[in-house]
Amino acid sequence: MIKAPRGTRDLLPPDTALWNFVEAAVRDVFRAYNFQEIRTPIFESTDLFARGVGEETDIVAKEMFTWEDRGRTLDSGDNLPPGPQFEAIKQQTDAMYAASRRRSQSLTLRPENTAGVVRAYIEHKLWDRGLNKLFYIGPQFRRERPQKGRYRQFYQIGAEVIGPSTSGSESPARDAEVLELLATLLDRLGVTGWTLELNSIGTPEDRVKFNEALRKALEPVVGKMCADCQRRAITNPLRVFDCKVTEDQPIIEKLPRISQFLGEASRAHFAEVQEILKSVEVPFTLNDRLVRGLDYYTRTAFEFTHGALGSQNAILGGGRYDGLSEALGGPAAPGIGFAIGEDRLVMSLADSAESVVRKPDAYIAPLGAGMNREAARLARELRRHDLVVDLGDESFRLKKSFEAADKIGARYLLIVGEDEVKADAFALKHLASGEQQTIPRGELAKRISQSSSS
Ligand code: HAM
Repeated sequence: MIKAPRGTRDLLPPDTALWNFVEAAVRDVFRAYNFQEIRTPIFESTDLFARGVGEETDIVAKEMFTWEDRGRTLDSGDNLPPGPQFEAIKQQTDAMYAASRRRSQSLTLRPENTAGVVRAYIEHKLWDRGLNKLFYIGPQFRRERPQKGRYRQFYQIGAEVIGPSTSGSESPARDAEVLELLATLLDRLGVTGWTLELNSIGTPEDRVKFNEALRKALEPVVGKMCADCQRRAITNPLRVFDCKVTEDQPIIEKLPRISQFLGEASRAHFAEVQEILKSVEVPFTLNDRLVRGLDYYTRTAFEFTHGALGSQNAILGGGRYDGLSEALGGPAAPGIGFAIGEDRLVMSLADSAESVVRKPDAYIAPLGAGMNREAARLARELRRHDLVVDLGDESFRLKKSFEAADKIGARYLLIVGEDEVKADAFALKHLASGEQQTIPRGELAKRISQSSSS
């Protein structure tokens, strides 16, 4: 039997109703904050992530789905029968192969979407629009060890605020607005018990001194750490904080913290973010160990965690990436954004899928030969009134229709038999109470909708 690949899963009804409910609520909130949707490709040039997210991050070093794309596949000619034309054809196909290799490109399924959005910002010169407030909803791919809340195809709801400095993109007001939006969103969805963890990881200049101090502190102890940390200590010491190896934690606990190395400007920026958050009453806790697992971050970095999620407790993460556009060959374009793990968000919801599914208002039971066409006509009329209608088949016995209506949770059963059609009035049975009435065609929609709102 062929199964879905490891780390991927099918989202089935009724759960999909919960996903749609979440996405509809999210779109409403984005609208209120004047964010607009962007859709970027699901695969991008591998280089984009290597340069954007960083070679030394777990994502790029270990988790990407990457392949060589040769543009087109060619028949090598190896299967041709030997003969006078063989050599000529072989030479021709070899030349095509070589050309195709020259055109080949390394592509990667996107492990995250900030790099893609910034690529699009540069490609389409979006700075002409001033401050861009963009959001996206879609799948991302990381080859991680699957567990509860961690998948190889997962979904993110993300947003990016990016533009030239003159558009206000660097202001701490943008950071605070994004964080306040997130608090509103989680509250709106009924996610309770979240914690906002906040840090500033400074500018690259602040980090020069920090990295120096880290290297110095790591020197005498790094020999006792895992192989990844030994490498990170040389290439990118900040990434040591990503280490999950239990034995390394006591060492990491004693390392210097970025908060001790922030310059005056970073400190003031961070202080203002906190002041605005207090003024809008969004609670947060400072966590100076939080450095985030992607290299593009500068200054504000944050995560929202949720106790009920278990070990994969980060429901979302984000921060500033003021130098990312330049790292990708674009103009200076400070930005800040976040991505919510939609799989985890859905998991954390107290509501069950059942409570957001709209059950059918009526199930139409055609009774006897020739009644399918009458049932179809009636279903069409009722659906035009925004009623949710399902229908059976004229070959079904009435008992079978009752069972089907019951299974899908319909409120009414509507019988369409020859007598009903002749009278142009139909037996409408309320399934919960068993009450049955004959209602003229013209009044059916009104009757069914009335009782749904009562
Ligand atoms: P990230 O922290 O790598 O940040 O991912 C954001 C969220 O995606 C995580 O907090 C988590 O909820 C979810 N997530 C990540 N990996 C998985 C997985 N394997 N399975 C399920 N959920 C997962 C970013 O991706 C940045 N691009 C966020 C950002 C936007 N920063 C600035 N702008």
